[in-house]
Amino acid sequence: MDKYVIAGRKRLEGVIRVSGAKNSTLPILTACILGRGCCVLEDVPRIQDVLVMAEVLEHLGCSVTWEGNRVRVDNTGLKLTEISESLMRKMRASNLVLGPLLGIFGQAKIASPGGCAIGSRPMDQHIKGLQLMGVEIKEKSGFIMAKASKLRGADIHLDVPSVGATENLMMAAVLAEGTTLIRNAAREPELVDLQNFLNGLGAKVRGAGLDIIRIDGVRQLSETTHTIIPDRIEAGTHMVAAAITQGDVEIQNIIPEHMESISAKLREAGVEVTLGEDSVRVRATGRPSAVDIRTLPYPGFPTDMQPQMMALMALTEGTSVISESIFENRYKHVDELRRMGVRVRVEGRVAVVKGVEALDGAFVEATDLRAGASLVLAGLAAEDATIIENIVHIDRGYENLDVKYRELGAKITRISHGGVR
Ligand code: UD1
Repeated sequence: MDKYVIAGRKRLEGVIRVSGAKNSTLPILTACILGRGCCVLEDVPRIQDVLVMAEVLEHLGCSVTWEGNRVRVDNTGLKLTEISESLMRKMRASNLVLGPLLGIFGQAKIASPGGCAIGSRPMDQHIKGLQLMGVEIKEKSGFIMAKASKLRGADIHLDVPSVGATENLMMAAVLAEGTTLIRNAAREPELVDLQNFLNGLGAKVRGAGLDIIRIDGVRQLSETTHTIIPDRIEAGTHMVAAAITQGDVEIQNIIPEHMESISAKLREAGVEVTLGEDSVRVRATGRPSAVDIRTLPYPGFPTDMQPQMMALMALTEGTSVISESIFENRYKHVDELRRMGVRVRVEGRVAVVKGVEALDGAFVEATDLRAGASLVLAGLAAEDATIIENIVHIDRGYENLDVKYRELGAKITRISHGGVR
């Protein structure tokens, strides 16, 4: 298993570029099923989750070719409608094939994704919406089987603004007969990116980014070329990296509006954040102030930044209260951070972090993607060396994180099975 070795206390300085967004790429790759022929995606991050989604598409019969960060998906060989348990186990987001497969074939069978490291993560909202569109769903022997003789538009009100459910329903609706309304839809920027991609294929989708999305079904879709939006969570992670090392970093390739909740929180913590047209400069001197954080659906503070902010809050002069409202079990990083000297107490969905003056380096393990990111950040600031094991989780969502941080002056080395890389 690969690991990172980080020699701490290095001030990060310089310029870093953010890759394309993981959470845009995954649904957009599955949406490539919906067109006729080839789609080209630009600025696709070459990260583990995206490679798994490419494998899912290939398994279904598509051909996926890479040229740098450009990906070409040719769906002319598409023939299968089933995703095995082993593929589903590799990545939960494989469930995003459900909507597109129903749109194209009127049927799909996927292994039930079950729980994951951060919570039980049900699919009831996906299922409820699809049923309203005329899909018959059976759950048996760990599989979800979906079938529709004809997909019809429906008026759907989600109980929770689920990102995945909104995406699956949007993708099922583009080829349905009539109009679909998704109310209480997720408003994350990745939904807008998906809408733009689908409209590029010839779909009629309006309202993404707001809480009602309207989709007027069309008979067929074509091909398109699309550039993936920058990854706001990667950008946020680098902002915290600059802050936690009391550094000065310019982060390029961002959309400033997507960074508002993170920028506001960092400013509240005394970090200097200067937003440019498509970049942000983050400077910090001295310890951050303690701030309280509550994760919420967009435009609230993202749950995917909660572990990273906890690492920063570990070094304040006060006490911060973190409330996790999205996932019930998203404190897997706490035990590992404690090994590094973080003083944190968790009760249910609330974590209380008492700032300390310095963190210790330690042997720790990445338990999930953002938990792993929080350990890297803590390691960058720690007094001595940190070794992070199981960084396969970090590879799921960050492209060359060690390379990028080395360019900013960090002493971070990847130790692969075969030696240093
Ligand atoms: C997406 C993101 C993930 C992020 C999450 C919340 C992708 C690939 N992943 O995950 O990085 O952390 O949004 O911003 O885009 N829920 C239900 N019923 C459902 C579906 C969801 O109750 O049918 C609940 C979940 O348990 C959770 C909440 O809704 O409590 C949000 O989940 P959801 O928005 O669906 O997350 P994902 O799309 O899985």
